[in-house]
Amino acid sequence: MTRTQWILATISMFSLVACSSKEDDASAPLRIPTYHEDVAPILAEHCLSCHDEGGIAPFSLVDYEDARRTAEAIRISTTSRSMPPFVLDNSGECNTYVEGRWLTDAQIRTIEAWARAGAPEGEPPKGTAPAPRALAELDRVDMTIDMKDTYTPDAAKFDDYRCFVLDPGLAEDVFITGFHVRPGAASMLHHLTLFSIDTKESEATAEALDAAEPGFGYSCIDDIHVPDARWLVGAGPGSGALRFPEGTGLRMRAGRKTILQIHYNQENGRHADRTRIDLMLARNVPKEATVQRIAATNLLLPPKQASVDQSAVEPVSIDLTLWGLWPHMHKLGTGMHVAATHDGEEKCLARVNNWDFHWQGFAHYTKPIDLSSGGSMRITCTYDTRGRDTTTTWGQGTNDEMCIAFFYLTAN
Ligand code: HEC
Repeated sequence: MTRTQWILATISMFSLVACSSKEDDASAPLRIPTYHEDVAPILAEHCLSCHDEGGIAPFSLVDYEDARRTAEAIRISTTSRSMPPFVLDNSGECNTYVEGRWLTDAQIRTIEAWARAGAPEGEPPKGTAPAPRALAELDRVDMTIDMKDTYTPDAAKFDDYRCFVLDPGLAEDVFITGFHVRPGAASMLHHLTLFSIDTKESEATAEALDAAEPGFGYSCIDDIHVPDARWLVGAGPGSGALRFPEGTGLRMRAGRKTILQIHYNQENGRHADRTRIDLMLARNVPKEATVQRIAATNLLLPPKQASVDQSAVEPVSIDLTLWGLWPHMHKLGTGMHVAATHDGEEKCLARVNNWDFHWQGFAHYTKPIDLSSGGSMRITCTYDTRGRDTTTTWGQGTNDEMCIAFFYLTAN
């Protein structure tokens, strides 16, 4: 135990905490934090966007009674950093993110001391209660990609990956600068990806696949099966609106169709879904972005291992700016480390400490990262295979594994 850990343990033993905005401010009075003074503002800022009446979380945290009843679960989920859900390390040790959902260590200690003290209420505030931080919204909606029909997943498939060929009807090229996914059946939508089909031939391939199968769309669990498909939008649950970094955007081509790939998961029942994606567009952007991945595809994960690492290295052949990323693994993943090396110097690009398959999506760097050509990037994924009896390999099935970082980047 380090000295700091020992002090923290001692403090929480006596249910005291320095309730100062400045961490480790020795002059701050030590007192027991209360709901109204200390905890409610943290919940408003970091939890209520989902834990509200009718929010995506299974219970609400809007008033004292809610918080008191669930104090122990709140303590456990915040100290383990499983809540608020955000898989990337946003502590500042390896970058920070615009979309980062993250409590400071001091906030976690405050919640912990409050819960251990029996969740005291304190004095209700004189004015109004702290306002919850709203989920991000787009400035405007210029176009909506709409399934225009419903799809009900195949009852025989616990995980149903379905691809829909959709025509945005564009007369000229435009750039996506932000999006907001509006799921029809949110409890079933695990994640989705929208691709641009960049050639006529690929469009014909996609339409043939669609025509070959009964019902709306076609099954696409292992792959979308269409060449020249370019990533446009990706989202998991609870993401709200996502804006691309100022001055950047992803091109949609005039006259070309798109493929919407949706991963439906039937853990919470089977429903009819009609998902829409609102898009914010620009006629032009100073920097056209693309989404490129670095992946360790030759996965071979022996069973019964507490920790197995797999890596891949890719050269960086042009000068580029990394604006953000989406780390992706499946259910055995526990952590990921992405780094760049140039002239023998290593730069941390992203770190995932407690991976959660259910919380995925793009996050953009608070400060974009420039990489010069001549170096390389390395991705290392860590897995826990103790629950498996056989070797696990690469694949799209939820019980296969992956090791990918998708980057939103521009060439300089
Ligand atoms: C982006 C949406 C979102 C935010 C923000 C969020 N939660 Fe949650 N929370 C959920 C969802 C969805 C679940 C249920 C599924 C799950 O556990 O992932 C959940 C589950 C929980 C649970 C049940 C146990 C657990 O760990 O699964 C607790 C306790 C909890 N949240 C507390 C909090 C607290 C405290 C905060 C703020 C510090 C917070 N949550 C912020 C969406 C959110």
